[in-house]
Formats: sequence, C-alpha cells, structure tokens
Amino acid sequence: SRPAPRPAARSTALPPGMPPEFAPRPAPARPAPVVRPVAEPISSAPQAPALVLPPEVVAACEKADWATLEGLAGACTCCSMAKSRQHVVFAEGGPGMRIALVGEAPGSEEDLPFVGKSGQLLTQMLESIGIERRRDIAIMNVLKCRPPGNRNPAPAEVACCATYLRRQLLLVRPDVLLIMGRFAMQTLLGLGPDASIGSQRGRVHDVTIGDFDTKAVVSYHPSYLLRAPDEKAKAWEDLTLFRRLIREAGIKLAPVHHTH
Ligand code: URA
Repeated sequence: SRPAPRPAARSTALPPGMPPEFAPRPAPARPAPVVRPVAEPISSAPQAPALVLPPEVVAACEKADWATLEGLAGACTCCSMAKSRQHVVFAEGGPGMRIALVGEAPGSEEDLPFVGKSGQLLTQMLESIGIERRRDIAIMNVLKCRPPGNRNPAPAEVACCATYLRRQLLLVRPDVLLIMGRFAMQTLLGLGPDASIGSQRGRVHDVTIGDFDTKAVVSYHPSYLLRAPDEKAKAWEDLTLFRRLIREAGIKLAPVHHTH
C-alpha cells in the first residue's frame, strides 16, 4: 500500500528570502546535557567574591594597541578561570573591519571564537546576509575564557572581562555591531540581569563606549537557536535589520565565498 501523504513541509511557510538554514527544525529529541550556555539567567550564577582588575592592568588596557591588549588578556589572572581555562580567546579579525559581533564566551576547547556547532550556524547566518567571516567582521566575546563546566559567569567576572571588550571595540570602532546572547547584551546596553533578548531584539540600539558611538542590533545566540529552532525566524528578522544597518552605513560587501 502507498504511504500516507507527508504533511506539508514547514519551510513553505518561511518568510520571503529566508534561507533554508533558518527553517525551524525540530529540536533534538534529547537535549544535549552538556550545553549549559552562558545565555541563561544570571541569577543562577554562583556567588563569586568581588573581583577587580588591578588598576595598573586597567590603565594598561586603556592605552593598549591591539597586540598589547591581546597580551594583557592572555596574561589575565583576575578570576579563577585563569586556573581552569584551556585557552584565552581574544578575537577573530580586528581593527580595520567596519562590522563587529560580540558573543558570550569561547567553547571550552576553542582557541578561536565560534568554532564548533554554534560557530557553523553563525557562519551560515552571516553568509546569508552577505558577510564573510575573517574578511568582513571582527568577532569578539564578552568573556575571553570559558567558565568551568559551562556554568554561567558571575557578574563580577563579566565586569572584569568587559574591560578588554570595551578597549577592543574602541580600537575596532565598528560602524555596526551585532550583539548575540544575553550577557553580551546586558554588558553592552548597560542592562540588568533580568533583561531578556526578547525585550531588546528587533530594533536598533545606540551603544556608547567612551568617546565612541555605534549602532547595534541584538539577537539570539546561535547556541540558543540550536536548542530552540523555532526562534530562528526571529533571528532572521534581526539579521535582515542588521543587513539594513550595514547598507545604511554605506558598507559595500564583496560576494561571499560560501563555506557551506
Ligand atoms: N564560541 C564563542 O567564541 N562565542 C560564543 O558565544 C560561543 C561559542
């Protein structure tokens, strides 16, 4: 007997122009237990003692060039991650790039930003709006080290590490900024621990760091999208908004050499 007709594919309902990688796919039957992304409520972070970067490190960061800053971050011992980390991950790309992205923290074994599964999705997302990694976009994280066991970072850890991020952004001075994930958003928009991506996405934000202003779009973190594929349609809306911002900034992107 003939098999029953299959239900219509969900992708027929995708918004116009949305690439297939954004099609919501069913979440994996069993959620991967090890993924405890940093983009979870900050209230579950363990209580950490107050941490401060030594004033001489802060002063050195404030006048550091890119290479010096990378050295300072690489030698950072501000928090306990200095003992547990495998790598200090500074950035992909850097000054001279007009587009920047800020994510959360490197994967535990990653020695570059966004490798692994969420990195693959990120690459596809960027390519779908004409951005080629390593050529067009500087990618940084709020945290330069992965918290042990993928736990959430404590607020003081984020605050310490943000010293490096702020100087990175002052050196890159991107015209447009894509902010992915809750801790990145809370840090760069100066929001409290209860602020959600859902409350801030879908519009353009002004981000000010010292004497530098830029325009930013907030969206869901690729790790979250892997666990919540139904949110991909909203991420696509955010990306199209970000693409508009890129065009309005007069940034011309060469055709992408697709990697997938
Ligand atoms: N890897 C990164 O570099 N950043 C993230 O936010 C996640 C994975």
